[in-house]
Amino acid sequence: MIKKIALTTGGGDCPGLNAVIRAVVRSAVNFYSWEVLGIQDGFEGLLSMRGIMELTPFRVRGILPRGGTILGTTNRGNPFKYTVKVGDKVEERDLSGRVLENLALLGVDALIMIGGDGTLTIGSELMKMGVNIVGVPKTIDNDLSATEVTFGFNTAVTTATEALDKLHTTAESHHRIMILEVMGRTAGWIALQSGIAGGADIILIPEIPFDLDIVADSIKRREKKGSKFSIIVVAEGAAPKGEHTFFKEYKIGERTVKTLGGIGQYVSDVLSEKLSMESRVTVLGHLQRGGSPTTYDRFLATRFGIKAVDLVAEGKFGMMVCLRAGKIESAPIEEAIGQIKNVDPQGEVVKMAEKLGLNLGREPIV
Ligand code: F6P
Repeated sequence: MIKKIALTTGGGDCPGLNAVIRAVVRSAVNFYSWEVLGIQDGFEGLLSMRGIMELTPFRVRGILPRGGTILGTTNRGNPFKYTVKVGDKVEERDLSGRVLENLALLGVDALIMIGGDGTLTIGSELMKMGVNIVGVPKTIDNDLSATEVTFGFNTAVTTATEALDKLHTTAESHHRIMILEVMGRTAGWIALQSGIAGGADIILIPEIPFDLDIVADSIKRREKKGSKFSIIVVAEGAAPKGEHTFFKEYKIGERTVKTLGGIGQYVSDVLSEKLSMESRVTVLGHLQRGGSPTTYDRFLATRFGIKAVDLVAEGKFGMMVCLRAGKIESAPIEEAIGQIKNVDPQGEVVKMAEKLGLNLGREPIV
């Protein structure tokens, strides 16, 4: 018999998180008459018990169009590998027992976790320890195989497409190569879909290691036909054939953080030298994760939130919500984690791009 549930958001933020929170709260309170607790900053909040708040329909008023998450989130704070400083050393500790104790102290019957692969992996481990978990997948990258689409993706693609529309102006006026580096981790979904929708000439994705001689030839062919500019979309995880992915490193105190990035500048440097053409790079970065979610993402996130509450009511723990053939369904979290969905280099969308005459850094297969 469920009386109280808790809700947490983990991993990188993503447009639509607040829409899920709102849907969960409204359905759990209004329809099932449960109490809902919001846990701040993912597992950090559950470990410290700081900032735990009751979420009521009144409390979630007006959050539907807001980006980010009212609960806060973190990429750190894995309770199974929690990093603590002991003297000069940093050690990893298993604090999962404390999560269980704190959930019991709060009287929580089930925990809805909204997160990506990392958060859902933690959820699956907690499930094995007896916590009633239901998962809601999120990522702008759209790279989770258990669901056809994740909320946040549509907003990110829309932002990237709008950026491409704007870059066309300068590209055409100045006869330049304009390069847009987009997010997506090891998947090329954002690059491919925004590139097609935004009228790019070249799209470079992680799934197709690229050859810049082939790219340069395609730019020369465009020039011969009268187009003196080219627009390139490059996914942050794309890499030249036989070479490694590009990373950037940042120091935060004693910690070193490694993030994908830098491929746009590399492509620009090589092409402007090969072609003696001016080239500029725009790294779209976190603009893709920010701002108000699109109608599509608000609707999908709301559907996911409602289904997550229904799964709790039905006692279907260890499951996550997903979209399959347009319907909201559920899949075991265990099966879903670690299964990354990549672009098929021989698939329909890639072939479509090549039929349109776009160059993907290889000799076209169509
Ligand atoms: O997974 C979402 C994502 O935005 C990726 O596309 C990107 O590589 C990564 O997160 C960036 O993470 P951070 O905000 O920690 O730099």
